[in-house]
Amino acid sequence: MTTVGIDAVEIWAGKCKLDLPGTFAPAKDEDPDKYRKGLGLENSSFPDVYEDIVTMGANAAKRLMEREGLEPDDIGRIDVATESAFDNSKPVSTYIAGCLEEVYEDDFHHANKGERKFACIAGTQSIDDAYNWIKAGRNRGRSALVVATDTALYARGSSGEATQGAGAVAMLISEDPDLVELSTEQGYGSADETDFLKPNQQFPSVDGKRSMQVYLARMREAVEDFESVAWDMHPEDFTYIPFHTPFPGMVRKAGLLGYRHMIRDTEIEDDLAGEIGRQPREGEYEDWDAYEAAIRDYMDELKGTDRYQAWYADTIDPTLSIAREVGNWYTGSVHVARASALKAAAEQGRELAGEKLLVGSYGSGAQAEIHAETVADGWKEEIAQLNIDDQLEQRYDLDFEEYEQIHDVHNHDMTVDVEEFTTPEGEFVFAGRGRMNERLYEYVE
Ligand code: HMG
Repeated sequence: MTTVGIDAVEIWAGKCKLDLPGTFAPAKDEDPDKYRKGLGLENSSFPDVYEDIVTMGANAAKRLMEREGLEPDDIGRIDVATESAFDNSKPVSTYIAGCLEEVYEDDFHHANKGERKFACIAGTQSIDDAYNWIKAGRNRGRSALVVATDTALYARGSSGEATQGAGAVAMLISEDPDLVELSTEQGYGSADETDFLKPNQQFPSVDGKRSMQVYLARMREAVEDFESVAWDMHPEDFTYIPFHTPFPGMVRKAGLLGYRHMIRDTEIEDDLAGEIGRQPREGEYEDWDAYEAAIRDYMDELKGTDRYQAWYADTIDPTLSIAREVGNWYTGSVHVARASALKAAAEQGRELAGEKLLVGSYGSGAQAEIHAETVADGWKEEIAQLNIDDQLEQRYDLDFEEYEQIHDVHNHDMTVDVEEFTTPEGEFVFAGRGRMNERLYEYVE
């Protein structure tokens, strides 16, 4: 049977950074440890003056196509996942194709293009669309290009300002993939929620604390749904578990919830029983509130056990290294988490081919999706091509006033004139607006 999955991945980080404990916390009169220890963030990435969702997406896609030796004719669809679009009609994928056509001799007129929207989960949904298209045999030997690109900005002074970020992930979905193979089993948890939304506005309306509860509730449903079609999961089934990562502290909560679920009725629960007791069972409590309180106490104990901490350090922590440095990239975030884990494994000289990942995607509004992936034979060569460490190293370090300027530059309701902080080289840049208010782009050698 033909396998289908992610053949190649490329990451493009916004070229500026905001040091959260060092620059942002003092300016807000906050304790830097809220960022380092609480949210688990060191820096947020920001787009320079000449960057936006199109340039970041097109630059990631160009690098990916170049190193894979691809021509436009090899690509049969271009799907962009974003929640930062600036046009309600013309999809970002047309702009990205337009950019790429500036540097390729051939065009993408044959390629089906679209834009996916469901908050942060849209990147995973676009991969699904590509998977289904290839599995249905409609791809005529071509691959799909999926680009997840966002400028995750919040209104200044709002609680979300602590968890911003900007960047793009380009992924090639193909038959016989080199990176990871997708499977048919999926679990969903989906409900009409108003935790985070942008009703015709650029910056989100967000109920931060509730959004965290909704994330966990939908993720739990997705896990149960996944188990109903796959198997009862055990913590040792997966080498890594990349989650949607709005900030690493959120994943700390999701990881603990997942672990508690997976160890129920296993030898791990038995082994830990002497130390922290057995998990509360609903039937043992008079009402739901008492049961929930008992579960919370159990989780507090579980979190402190060596067994849990070792599992977390091996399975979850390696997925967070890039997120810690870039913040939330919305649609790209879970795909950055996967790349972080594979990169960590390659750096440790591990052999992963054939091993399993469990991927937990989430989008506010709200929907979670869980699926398993199998690491493919070519993963190490593929992941070695990422230059994300160099990108992060070379970012311009904004002071607080410069951060406010950059925020204003990318605020759709403002027109400000700010000098660029870095010099573009060998990349697409925003070049102003055309006669119909469309955004214009050019390639800078
Ligand atoms: P906040 O008020 O900035 O922070 O809100 P806080 O006071 O709640 O502190 C954050 C954590 O740091 C807490 O940890 C504190 O205890 C800890 P917790 O109790 O939660 O474990 N802390 C400290 N730790 C050590 N030393 C200290 C210290 N001070 C505090 N000195 C919030 C945080 C996340 C709510 C806010 O940033 C926000 O509204 N963010 C935007 C919404 C968001 O990211 N939600 C996440 C789930 S929803 C999601 O992921 C979807 C999303 O990506 C959108 C989409 O799908 O499109 C957002």
